[in-house]
Amino acid sequence: MTDSPIFAPGRTAVITGAASGIGLAAARRCAALGMNVVMADRQGPALEDAQVEAVDGTIERRVLDVTDHAALEDLAEETFARFGDVALLMNNAARPGGAGAFENYPAWRETMEVNFWGVANGVHAFTQKMIDQAKPARIVNTGSKQGITTPPGDLAYNVTKAAVKVLTEGLQHTLRNIPGCQVTAHLLVPGYTYTGMTARRVAEKPPGAWSPDQVIDYLVDALAGGDFYIICPDNETSAEVDAKRILWAAQDVAYGRPALSRWHPEFKDAFADYMAKSKS
Ligand SMILES: NC(=O)c1ccc[n+]([C@@H]2O[C@H](COP(=O)([O-])OP(=O)(O)OC[C@H]3O[C@@H](n4cnc5c(N)ncnc54)[C@H](O)[C@@H]3O)[C@@H](O)[C@H]2O)c1
Repeated sequence: MTDSPIFAPGRTAVITGAASGIGLAAARRCAALGMNVVMADRQGPALEDAQVEAVDGTIERRVLDVTDHAALEDLAEETFARFGDVALLMNNAARPGGAGAFENYPAWRETMEVNFWGVANGVHAFTQKMIDQAKPARIVNTGSKQGITTPPGDLAYNVTKAAVKVLTEGLQHTLRNIPGCQVTAHLLVPGYTYTGMTARRVAEKPPGAWSPDQVIDYLVDALAGGDFYIICPDNETSAEVDAKRILWAAQDVAYGRPALSRWHPEFKDAFADYMAKSKS
């Protein structure tokens, strides 16, 4: 099942981070469904090498850095001038953070620029034009479970993805309060997915990971169902386990537990008991 007014021949998808991984899988799917696809990425050679087969539509490749607000504005201008339409905007480009709380300041700045401002730049450049075209359209921002349950390990990345979640929630609230608006926003939260980002750590797809195509299958179904939160499971984490982890994290705030109590030695047993109960 697809969100039929969106994934349709003659309509146009704009995808950032489209040279690899989830963005490339999305580009291939949109092209296979007959759409025009504008693939944007900062890696020129990878973008040129990316195999995407056009069916009815046109494939355009744009080398740009999502941190460049003017480049996103130009992309929006040119896409509407060329195709007169954007049905799907996927603000998807990101980088790992690789920085702890008070280390590697340059990595903090750069990760915020790419992962948060890259998404915000896309939202600012495209949203009003997508509203004005007066046709159904979707904005999908790629977040992460690391921006929801915020596990220790890459704090800079977690902060950027938490910001993307909050931006996307607020964007959807704004859109649904505009009379007649046909644009909706959605938060895509992939699980563990074997892509360029994760392949750095392992040479072959681990059994626990999903493929990028599985993420796109899930996204397409969820958009057809009108879901805002599109939280993908993977081969090692079920939707039920994700839901329990998300609730536990929210309860830290509601119940006044220590921050990140899931990883606090004094809460190890309580968390294990809670997860065990959830499985019955
Ligand atoms: N792979 C996972 O397990 C996983 C899990 C949760 C969320 N995500 C998110 O999924 C999205 C896609 O990542 P992926 O896993 O497919 O990784 P990937 O590395 O395969 O693809 C990311 C793409 O973004 C591009 N990019 C990076 N910085 C850019 C910039 N400044 N301007 C333009 N393009 C830029 C890269 O060149 C690359 O082609 C990201 O937002 C990532 O945070 C991935």
